[in-house]
Amino acid sequence: MSTNLQKDEPGGAGRAAPDRSGPPVLRLSGISKRFGAVQALTDVDLEVYAGEVLALVGDNGAGKSTLIKVVAGVNAPDEGVIEFGGRPVSISRPHDAQRLGIATVYQDLALADNLDVVGNLFLGSEIYRWGLLDEVAMEKKARELLDTLSIKIPSVRIPVASLSGGQRQVVAISRSLLGEPKLVVLDEPTAALGVEQTAQVLDLVERLRDRGLAVIIISHNMVDVRAVSDRVAVLRLGRNNGTFDVASTTQEQIIAAITGATDNAVSRRASRDHAQS
Ligand SMILES: Nc1ncnc2c1ncn2[C@@H]1O[C@H](COP(=O)(O)OP(=O)(O)OP(=O)(O)O)[C@@H](O)[C@H]1O
Ligand SMILES: [Mg+2]
Repeated sequence: MSTNLQKDEPGGAGRAAPDRSGPPVLRLSGISKRFGAVQALTDVDLEVYAGEVLALVGDNGAGKSTLIKVVAGVNAPDEGVIEFGGRPVSISRPHDAQRLGIATVYQDLALADNLDVVGNLFLGSEIYRWGLLDEVAMEKKARELLDTLSIKIPSVRIPVASLSGGQRQVVAISRSLLGEPKLVVLDEPTAALGVEQTAQVLDLVERLRDRGLAVIIISHNMVDVRAVSDRVAVLRLGRNNGTFDVASTTQEQIIAAITGATDNAVSRRASRDHAQS
């Protein structure tokens, strides 16, 4: 398995370009969300195209998870427009997101440790035959899915408790693909992983992109972000603070946008108001 972390050209020379011929898979315009006294998101825009990996970065509390929960149908936005495949949609519950083709993998993976890989992949969407679980069909489909993604797991019949953190993450992402989504959203998929396991997950992210999916990945790790993403969207204090092409942006520029060293006028004012209140 290749190690993306060692890739010396961030932004991926030789990579297929994202498909910008049509509308973006997802476009968010003017999204705002308040929780009581906390204005978590203010007027946020975001778009991601087919065949593109968009990293969503920002300091703790910047609003990243809140924004993806808007996309996943967990948080209803107070204001703003969500377009999917070029048309306005309403995502008011997780089922709406799934039906559109949006798969979200949260950091706490919610795998069932005592079940094997097949059991986890089909948890909640089991295949039945004559009223009985069709283990043969599920195992076959599980192998096919893992094979098409070039995922190496010792056996699909071992409990996921005995897999490494990276393998578990890969199983969780694979499970989200069974519904054949157009957009996959990953909240900190490499946060708890070592170097080798991180490489395994980033490899899978690249394969999703190569298959034409749009991917949004939240990460605090700038090395990962630069290794795997095409563009980086920065949130600061719940507002946009720049979107960057990875290939033509330095790590320092992205970090400056995260920390506020290069605030745009809007977030500068927000920061000042924040300090005065
Ligand atoms: N359900 C909620 N109720 C109240 N406040 C919330 C809720 N969810 C998020 N917030 C607040 O909204 C702000 C943004 O939080 P969010 O979790 O989106 O940040 P984040 O960018 O994901 O941070 P981290 O990097 O720490 O995960 C924070 O001030 C947080 O306390
Ligand atoms: Mg978060």
